[in-house]
Amino acid sequence: MTAIQIQYGHTMPNQSRPIVCIGAGGIMKDAHLPAYRKAGFEVAGITDLNLQKADTLATTFDIPNVYESTEQAVTEAPTHSVFDIAVPASALTELLPAFPQGAGLLIQKPMGEDIAQAKEIKAICKEREFTAAINFQMRFAPPVIAARNIIDDGHIGELHDIEIRVTVYTPWHLWDFLEKCARVEILYHSIHYIDLIRSFFGDPQGVYAKTVKHPKMMNMADVRSNIIMDYGEVKRANITANHAHEYGLEHQESYLKFEGTQGAIKIRLGVLMDYPEGMADAFEYCILREGKTPEWVSVNIDGTWFPDAFIGTMASLMRKLEDPSNELPTAIDDAYKTMACVEAAYHSSVYGSTPVLYT
Ligand SMILES: NC(=O)c1ccc[n+]([C@@H]2O[C@H](COP(=O)([O-])OP(=O)(O)OC[C@H]3O[C@@H](n4cnc5c(N)ncnc54)[C@H](O)[C@@H]3O)[C@@H](O)[C@H]2O)c1
Repeated sequence: MTAIQIQYGHTMPNQSRPIVCIGAGGIMKDAHLPAYRKAGFEVAGITDLNLQKADTLATTFDIPNVYESTEQAVTEAPTHSVFDIAVPASALTELLPAFPQGAGLLIQKPMGEDIAQAKEIKAICKEREFTAAINFQMRFAPPVIAARNIIDDGHIGELHDIEIRVTVYTPWHLWDFLEKCARVEILYHSIHYIDLIRSFFGDPQGVYAKTVKHPKMMNMADVRSNIIMDYGEVKRANITANHAHEYGLEHQESYLKFEGTQGAIKIRLGVLMDYPEGMADAFEYCILREGKTPEWVSVNIDGTWFPDAFIGTMASLMRKLEDPSNELPTAIDDAYKTMACVEAAYHSSVYGSTPVLYT
């Protein structure tokens, strides 16, 4: 079979801007800063409530300034800086008013802990005229960009089925703030998949979901979810996430699958498997040919979800600041709709199933 051309590079700004980081936790260390280093973005400074953590990351990533507070970061940020915020969602409504009118902000997901906070965050961003995006970076993972290009080029025909399945063992204790959260799995993890599906299929008319605890993780609100996004009679969008599969690697899985009328794409995202070691990604596609047995083609994609996708969200914000006519895919208004789907999923989980009539 002749291989098809696949593009998956990020669209970069003409001129990058200095980045000022708020929060020096795990995700800043493991994804934001490695991504910015890879992209050649300048990081001008960093702060955290725990200054020791800010100091450590400044040393590791050669960041010239450690600010003692967000207020100091705002005052001393170089002109045209963008602020990169990676703090727990519960801190956002209090933190956001600290940024100057008209600032450019990239805010870690989730957009608050529920729809009420998301509403408040949206209102603050509007009132302060921020150019702001939520870091739903999965849309910018190189294999996802590749899949979107294959789909947009029409190679797999009409896309009608998206399935996301994760069977892994997630060491939730690494994020100690999650134990106190009333919502965990969908709000902090499957939210990426909900956002991703929205980016392909648009806004669903409804969401069916059930999210549950695990007998060995009763301190966590929810760790396993089934989510169906309702797009009517023809399209299927399905998320299954089980983070409690403690039986070795043999049957761990983590994939996105796209099926169209003329072909399909399957992406294995290795980062969640054997966590935190991770496994290799895999990218395969299959295009139906008249009279031929379906054949899957493997493609080597350079770059993965963590950290490469984090280049994409930051680049898109810089591009929007450069030229307001540029698209900002995960802008606040769009991200709010993902939060609305998350809210619907939790509502469905509590009130959802149809009682079975056994008589
Ligand atoms: N987009 C993704 O894929 C992804 C992945 C992991 C985590 N996250 C999100 O990133 C956020 C942080 O996660 P993490 O894993 O880095 O957590 P973490 O607990 O390792 O780090 C959070 C840091 O924020 C600091 N902090 C809290 N409030 C602050 C404030 N008001 N000002 C300055 N610093 C403050 C804490 O001191 C801590 O160092 C969470 O909301 C999480 O959901 C996103």
